[in-house]
Amino acid sequence: MALPRITVLISGRGSNLASLLAAEKAGRLHGTVETVISNRADAAGLAVALAHGARINVVDHRAHAERERFDAALAAAVDASRPDLVVLAGFMRILGPDFVGRYRDRMLNIHPSLLPCYPGLHTHRRALEDGARIHGCTVHFVTADLDHGPIVGQAAVPVLPDDDAATLAARVLAAEHALLPAAVRAFCEGRLAIVGRRVRVRGERTPATAALFVPAA
Ligand code: GRF
Repeated sequence: MALPRITVLISGRGSNLASLLAAEKAGRLHGTVETVISNRADAAGLAVALAHGARINVVDHRAHAERERFDAALAAAVDASRPDLVVLAGFMRILGPDFVGRYRDRMLNIHPSLLPCYPGLHTHRRALEDGARIHGCTVHFVTADLDHGPIVGQAAVPVLPDDDAATLAARVLAAEHALLPAAVRAFCEGRLAIVGRRVRVRGERTPATAALFVPAA
């Protein structure tokens, strides 16, 4: 049977995209990243996609005065790639309800906090300001309610005494790179079931979608 087709949306560096491509190459994704779409032509992640042999496309948000127009252009590009799954991997535009509804239950986002704490931007700075001792990242299904869709998986990291936003972001990013491929694999293998606001993940002997990362002392 053909592997599920994945379209990844990015805006910048593309390190989460790279983690998906590495997992695919290693046979650990159980899906194929066919297309990568960016809203910025200068996104470094596009080169990562090309090196892997994925198709790339740019839908520049600045070419569309209204968000609805941008969403429609993006939807046309995504539809053309015929995805089974859409992954927002560092995609920094807010998508409207029409776009979100179109890919309902088949669009995942990686967010750099332990949701429902810190939806939105500047998550690492906000966690430090609050004196949080544990921080992390979340993969969730995308709904019209920003950063509040059903949670597929989370990975937690400690906040260390000397952390600043950059050191904390780097620790969380390493956790993102483990979590996102694990969550995408679970989707591709048909192991995710949305039950109300919760997601049941079937068949994980060691739960890769619920991980605790503690750095060596
Ligand atoms: C990640 O921290 C992601 O969670 C956030 O933006 C960052 C993107 O990094 N939404 P990259 O482009 O995947 O390297």
